Amino acid sequence: MDITGNAFVTGGGSGIGKACSIALAKEGAKGILVADINLKAAEETIAEATAVATNPDFRAEAIHLDVTSEESVKQTVAKMIESFGRIDYCIHCAGTGLSSYRPVDEASLDELKRSLAVHVHGTFLITSLISAAMKSQELVTVDSAHPERGGTRGSIVVLGSSASIFAIPHLVPYTASKHAVLAIAKTAAMESGVHNIRVNCICPNWTDTPMLRHTLEISEEMTVESLLATIPIKRLCTAHDVADAALFLCSPRSCYITGVAYPVDGGMALTMKT
Ligand SMILES: NC(=O)c1ccc[n+]([C@@H]2O[C@H](COP(=O)([O-])OP(=O)(O)OC[C@H]3O[C@@H](n4cnc5c(N)ncnc54)[C@H](O)[C@@H]3O)[C@@H](O)[C@H]2O)c1
Repeated sequence: MDITGNAFVTGGGSGIGKACSIALAKEGAKGILVADINLKAAEETIAEATAVATNPDFRAEAIHLDVTSEESVKQTVAKMIESFGRIDYCIHCAGTGLSSYRPVDEASLDELKRSLAVHVHGTFLITSLISAAMKSQELVTVDSAHPERGGTRGSIVVLGSSASIFAIPHLVPYTASKHAVLAIAKTAAMESGVHNIRVNCICPNWTDTPMLRHTLEISEEMTVESLLATIPIKRLCTAHDVADAALFLCSPRSCYITGVAYPVDGGMALTMKT
């Protein structure tokens, strides 16, 4: 997929971020900074990624990051530049599930604030500070055989959700924050195209990670069977399905794609109403 540069992955200690880190290493990335609030988990990811890396110059580091803290994001982006020099790809997967599954008249303000802090403040800080860093980077030709395809200063991929597009009952703090994540990505994409930076938002449906398993535990009505009823491809999404889409959106193969809500949902959108 022409993945040869340096990647910054948030939430790389688990689920989708972990799968993205390992896929980047397999696909030929040169460097990866795996950032997570759980440093031990991020360190485990770099050990697994290093074991499968194919680039002879591959190097990976783990770092503690709290995406809700501007200072923490600033320090982590500075560390990325200090260690790797250039940020070719940013895949922002840090996220949190909910601790309750309730209709809007019983939903908790604290839960909304927590979801907004991690998803909205986090996506804002990551997109803003990574865009600033990418803007000052050298322009690299996307495809030397076809110079008319232009150049790149980097690609940012953020994790939205089907909940960025559709209403998901009983998850209002999550749907509110994921709608905002898509809005950040679309606005950043409009502004950044001129700087040769692309910004896209992946919108997976129910992905089999620790986050989904926790949601299934707290909900009496939601079961794997009830979820499968809305998915034409009759299985849950896997972290590998999302990682493949993330690598495509990072790679020059997608150099004319920006500002999209990219569904990885087994066709679930066909069964949903906006
Ligand atoms: N699992 C799903 O069904 C699903 C579906 C659509 C979208 N998503 C989104 O994909 C992303 C990844 O989810 P996942 O399923 O891999 O979850 P996960 O719980 O497996 O992984 C999330 C990672 O983010 C880290 N994290 C949490 N808070 C953080 C913070 N403040 N700063 C830095 N790191 C933090 C966690 O430590 C964890 O390693 C999230 O944005 C999630 O909303 C998940």
